[in-house]
Amino acid sequence: MHILYFMILFPCILVPSLKISLADDNSMYLLQSMRDGETLISKGTKFEFGFFSPGSSQKRYLGIWYKNIPIKTVVWVANRANPINDSSGILTVNSTGNLVLTTNGSLVWSTTNNNFHKQAQNTVVELLDSGNLVIRNEGETNPEEYLWQSFDYPSDTLLPGMKLGWDLRTGLDRRLTAWKSPDDPSPGEVYRDLKLYSYHEFYIMKGTKKVFRFGPWNGLYFSGVPDLRNNSVFVFNFISNKDESYYIFNPGNDVVMSRIVMNESSTIYRYVWVEEDQNWRIYTSLPKDFCDTYGLCGAYGNCMTTQTLNSKEL
Ligand SMILES: *[C@@H]1O[C@H](CO)[C@@H](O)[C@H](O)[C@H]1NC(C)=O
Ligand SMILES: *[C@@H]1O[C@H](CO)[C@@H](O)[C@H](O)[C@H]1NC(C)=O
Ligand SMILES: *[C@@H]1O[C@H](CO)[C@@H](O)[C@H](O)[C@H]1NC(C)=O
Ligand SMILES: *[C@@H]1O[C@H](CO)[C@@H](O)[C@H](O)[C@H]1NC(C)=O
Ligand SMILES: *[C@@H]1O[C@H](CO)[C@@H](O)[C@H](O)[C@H]1NC(C)=O
Repeated sequence: MHILYFMILFPCILVPSLKISLADDNSMYLLQSMRDGETLISKGTKFEFGFFSPGSSQKRYLGIWYKNIPIKTVVWVANRANPINDSSGILTVNSTGNLVLTTNGSLVWSTTNNNFHKQAQNTVVELLDSGNLVIRNEGETNPEEYLWQSFDYPSDTLLPGMKLGWDLRTGLDRRLTAWKSPDDPSPGEVYRDLKLYSYHEFYIMKGTKKVFRFGPWNGLYFSGVPDLRNNSVFVFNFISNKDESYYIFNPGNDVVMSRIVMNESSTIYRYVWVEEDQNWRIYTSLPKDFCDTYGLCGAYGNCMTTQTLNSKEL
């Protein structure tokens, strides 16, 4: 297996080709493309980008997973709804700085640069240690100037540092959409979305039906989940201004790995990595119980629950 470390450089001169920078030395290698079997690893070997088959599926998808844990945990998928049937997938970059995934010459998936004011020049494709796959011009380090980044197109997983919500300037809606099943990453019916009402609110949706409501942000917490507070596992924020409106979390003092996953069963989970077990553990989930379901007891209804609420929240 051929492993491509850290970044691929795509000089956009005549024929685009890939320059591979290996982490252990800084020599550059010229390649034409990334094929099935080759992967790109982030500088600190935290994440890996390449082709994989989920669960019992034989189909091939291009995605990102944790590199440094023994359980293959996929956090992002490129060609979610358009799998490749064999190992013929090839990833290249074209002269306008877009990643293009093809099989036997036909297009499977591609990126769309939305930073129109930026001209692609000596394009670099880099997998960051945050798990963000970015396309940028060589030397560019300002995230606002990236040509494209996978963090803007979440699959079912929210990682630390990812924004969940809207870029109001471009109309980009970053939402989590569940996989159809553990064998099929194509977008299912269930998603978590920020609705732009007069008070922006997160909902878990199933199709057009609201399943769970987080309630408006009051500056300290979401009114529907009042026990959601900063803690030792994660700290979070809700930013809302004229340009952007989003939820974001980062590791807390305990600095454990955690991720939020939207599941097709209409439940959103926060998993934490437990080093002793070498496994993921469910830290919290929402809705917590039956009474949390949106509209269950009518607009002014009262739902009784015998369960005491957990103080930990998503
Ligand atoms: C995979 O096979 C299915 C069924 O034969 C076909 O419809 C689909 O286009 C194929 N996918 C690709 C990417 O070739
Ligand atoms: C690849 O494409 C060519 C031309 O369209 C076609 O003749 C050939 O059967 C294809 N091969 C596979 C493996 O799909
Ligand atoms: C590069 O790929 C993107 C996405 O497929 C496409 O929109 C664009 O036209 C391509 N650019 C060139 C020069 O082929
Ligand atoms: C959804 O959650 C159920 C129950 O925990 C689990 O069995 C299933 O694998 C999850 N689905 C996905 C796509 O992760
Ligand atoms: C959580 O902590 C972060 C960093 O210390 C802070 O910026 C943020 O406002 C806090 N969030 C809440 C909801 O208190």
